[in-house]
Parts: sequence; structure tokens; C-alpha cells
Amino acid sequence: MLADSYGRVATDLRVSLTDRCNLRCTYCMPPEGLEWLPNPEILTDDEVNRLIRIGVTMLGIEEIRFTGGEPLLRRGLSSILAATTSLQPRPTTALTTNAIGLSRFAPALADAGLDRINVSLDTVRPETFERMALRRRLPDVLDGMAAAARAGLTPVKVNAVLMRDINDTEAPELLRYCLEHGYQLRFIEQMPLDAQHGWSRENMITADEILDKLSAEFHLEAADPDTRGSAPAELFYVDGGPETVGVIGSVTRPFCGACDRVRLTADGQIRNCLFAREESDLRPLLRNGGTDEEIAQRWRANVAGKLPGHGINDPTFLQPSRPMSAIGG
Ligand code: GTP
Ligand code: 5AD
Ligand code: SF4
Repeated sequence: MLADSYGRVATDLRVSLTDRCNLRCTYCMPPEGLEWLPNPEILTDDEVNRLIRIGVTMLGIEEIRFTGGEPLLRRGLSSILAATTSLQPRPTTALTTNAIGLSRFAPALADAGLDRINVSLDTVRPETFERMALRRRLPDVLDGMAAAARAGLTPVKVNAVLMRDINDTEAPELLRYCLEHGYQLRFIEQMPLDAQHGWSRENMITADEILDKLSAEFHLEAADPDTRGSAPAELFYVDGGPETVGVIGSVTRPFCGACDRVRLTADGQIRNCLFAREESDLRPLLRNGGTDEEIAQRWRANVAGKLPGHGINDPTFLQPSRPMSAIGG
């Protein structure tokens, strides 16, 4: 079991498979990209599979979510998925992706055992998409989402970050698109995790603002908070339901008290929080003959040291040096 000293137990493992990405969302990366992790530092498929096996069979992990950068850029994704879903007990599996290339990969991913998918999409207007992601790929993303739904990778959830004076006025339009297509949209408060350190509290569109913007066009009714569990998203029924829209208010409505997550980076570091200041390096154990029990022990010790919250609202807060794209969100 992966328990911390505040009574929380991590059962959800988020595995980043690469720090690279084929988009350049301005709230995430600079236009020129980042200095990518060198290949020898990235875990091999076998190393990733071993850590997932240890997590599931020795440490009580129940759900595996693959992230990036952009996880569809990882060649071994299908085979890692197949190895994951052949474990006993079989964990549930999910993918957080920008959906580029998904129209081609969705059926194979479903065959390899992927259960569901979350797609990052901030706008349905081509001009806004290019302004925010610096690439003309909106049609690929929309096709990818449709292919995921056809392949049964459902519910298809959509993550949207609103940026002031760029896409914040488009929130109702994006919700309408998602309702029409049967996707569950969640708006996310921007967190201070961008590589450029450009985040500011004044520019962040807060959960309250998001709800105000949506309420101008839709009737929203909060879902029963007792059904939320450890989910980051607070759900609201739209126009009487059953469809919902979510708000992930990490900064103004933190949910760290119910956190059940632990993260593995593409270069083999365990992080007990998005905002952790320390990581535990599993690579030396993997590469120098460490036993499964030694790896499990280092992993348990990392989670045991998890802090009660992210600390973004503390005056002494310091952004972690690893950016979002190298953690996986
Ligand atoms: P579901 O289980 O499908 O609800 O997935 P999810 O919302 O946990 O995962 P996803 O990868 O789609 O992340 C959506 C947004 O929530 C992203 O902006 C993540 O960075 C954020 N998020 C996910 N996990 C955490 C977390 O532990 N803490 C905080 N603060 N934000 C998180
Ligand atoms: N704050 C909040 N969410 C972010 N994402 C990327 N950068 C940030 C940030 N600074 C979102 C992406 C993706 C998910 C993994 O995290 O839109 O959907
Ligand atoms: Fe890529 Fe996701 Fe960062 Fe956008 S937010 S650049 S899709 S890693």
C-alpha cells in the first residue's frame, strides 16, 4: 500500500511516457519547445512495464493513466498497454492526450485494452487553436476525439484551459460542441507549472469566473459532493442533466485532501505530487540490479513523505523546476 502520513492512499498511478509534444500550448511550453530528456535517460518499455507491475501487484495501484508530453508519440504505447492490462488484478487504464494521430490509433489502443480517454481541447475555432497551440491541427484533434468515441474509449472527457482575452469568451461555445458530441467537458484553472514561468494569479480564470461565464447561457446545478470521491473535477448538471460540465479548480478550490495519485516521470522519478519539490529516482535500482522489493520500498518512502497540499496559495510558494510537460499533468 502507498500511504502517506495524512491518511491518504495512492491507488492511481500517472505514467508519463515522454516529455515531447507536437503542440506548443502557450500555457505549457515556449514556441521553440524545451530541451527534451536525452534518450538514454528515458525508461525503456521493459522498465516501464516492470514498474507498473510492481505498482499493481505489490503496492495497490488500481488505475494507470498514461500521460506525456504527448503519450501518442511513444512508439511502445500499445505494447505497454497490453502488458498493463494483462496484469492480475487488471488495473483500469486511461490516456490523457492532445488527440493528434488518435484517429489512426484509437482502434489499436482499444484492442490493447485502453478503457478511456481524456483529450486536451481549448477551443473549436481554428484561429484560436492556432493562436493557443501554435499549430494548425484542430481538424486532427476533432477527428481523433470522434474516433476515440467510435472505438468505445468512453466517456471521452475534454480538458480545457481558459486564457484571458484569448479563449475565455468561447467557454459556452466549447460546452455546446461537447454536449452535441457526447463528450464530458471540464474547465481547468491554470496552474503555475508552465515552463516559461509566465503564470500569474491575476490572469488565471478562476472556477468562479468559469461558472459565471457558463451560467450566462446554461442552467448549472451542482452534483452531490458525496459522489465526487477523489476526482479533481467538481461536476454540474447542465440544463437539468443528465449531461454534466466539470470545473477543476486546483488553485482556488484545492482538492489535495482527497488525493489518491502518484506520478512516474518518463525518466524514472517518482513524484508524490504535481508540485513536489523532491523526487525519488528509481532508475539506479532498475539499472543496477535492484530487487522488486527494493524498488517498492523506495516508492513507499516517497509517498510516505507527501505534503498535505500543493502550497500554491502560501506566500512562500515556489514553482517546481520540472514543468507540466515533463510531469504529465
Ligand atoms: P479523470 O479520472 O478522468 O477525472 O482524470 P483527471 O482529471 O484526473 O486527469 P487528466 O489527466 O485529464 O487531468 C485533468 C486536469 O486535472 C489537468 O490539468 C491535470 O493537471 C489536473 N490534475 C490531475 N491530477 C491532479 C492532481 O493530483 N492535482 C492537481 N492539482 N491537478 C490535477
Ligand atoms: N495548468 C493547468 N492545466 C494544464 N494543462 C497543461 N498545462 C496546464 C497548466 N499550467 C492541462 C492540459 C492537459 C492536462 C494534462 O493538463 O490542457 O489537458
Ligand atoms: Fe503538449 Fe499538453 Fe503541453 Fe499542449 S499542454 S504543449 S498538448 S504537453
